[in-house]
Amino acid sequence: MNRDQLVKTASAMVAKGKGLLAADESSGTIKKRFDAIGVESNETSRRDYREMLFGAQAAMKNNISGVILYDETIRQNAKAGTPLVKLITDAGSIPGIKVDKGTKPLPFCPGELITEGLDGLGERLDEYAKLGARFAKWRAVIDIGTGIPTHTAVNTNSHALARYAAICQEHDIVPIVEPEVLMDGGHDIDTCFNVTQWVLKTVFQDLYYQRVLLEGMVLKPNMVISGKKAANRASAQQVAEKTIRVLKDCVPPAVAGIAFLSGGQSDAEATEHLSLMNQMGPLPWPVTFSYGRALQHEPQKVWSGKAENVAAAQRAFAHRAHMNGLAAQGQWKSEAEKAA
Ligand code: 13P
Repeated sequence: MNRDQLVKTASAMVAKGKGLLAADESSGTIKKRFDAIGVESNETSRRDYREMLFGAQAAMKNNISGVILYDETIRQNAKAGTPLVKLITDAGSIPGIKVDKGTKPLPFCPGELITEGLDGLGERLDEYAKLGARFAKWRAVIDIGTGIPTHTAVNTNSHALARYAAICQEHDIVPIVEPEVLMDGGHDIDTCFNVTQWVLKTVFQDLYYQRVLLEGMVLKPNMVISGKKAANRASAQQVAEKTIRVLKDCVPPAVAGIAFLSGGQSDAEATEHLSLMNQMGPLPWPVTFSYGRALQHEPQKVWSGKAENVAAAQRAFAHRAHMNGLAAQGQWKSEAEKAA
């Protein structure tokens, strides 16, 4: 393990005013996103779309510290023949790769999932490193419902996350550790708080048992938030306060940084929550974004599969990236949105 390299990469991923672009949608997920804008999902359209994002050089240079890629994308070339990975590195941003193999039903735990992909992980990491990846991502999914999560789901997912993180570091790849407590359902914010606390306590215990270097990893958590279908949804200020409270309680200050997922929040909500949290500083770690939907929703709509929309879509992406860059420094204000 090259400790200095891991620490250097992890801190670059959470550099001031920058965050991560999660562009690692599986072929199934990107098809759903393309269906919504009336675009057929095939290798070429997926390439064109991601080339639009990574080719937005100003946005990438100013606000995107790294990009999480999918297996297909890390191997693809732009229309002119340049590897997509090179578009990312030319902008001074770091390529990363999703390495989990998705979720399967967890045996004897109806309604719960386990993330798979540990077998052969070391060999895959070596190949991805040759293709340019310097960090990786593994997402565990924890659902809230009647009688769930179970201890079985929390413990098995946490164990797999820690095993993944240790294998990544052994191969000089920075792990993004993503235990996502879903915001689907009608639960209130305190239920989300309690489940998130349970999950994070378990994950950090397992990371300790697996000897993971905290300075060489990035945590990608959910925010503490009401379920989407909750009758009374908590305010933005409550989301920020409860999220920071649970993180201070569970996440050692040695962790290189925290980069949130957006998890189904609207673009504006995800930005506002991040900014409010950073206004509560100084915090023990850099706190930034690793958004998928909350960064891509608008540029995706503007692009709509048409070459003539690329420049406008890149402007929409640059705007969202800039808003989140401000939020990562606690400097976002709603007026900034209007000025765009
Ligand atoms: P969202 O921001 O759309 O939740 O995606 C982030 C991600 O990488 C989920 O694994």
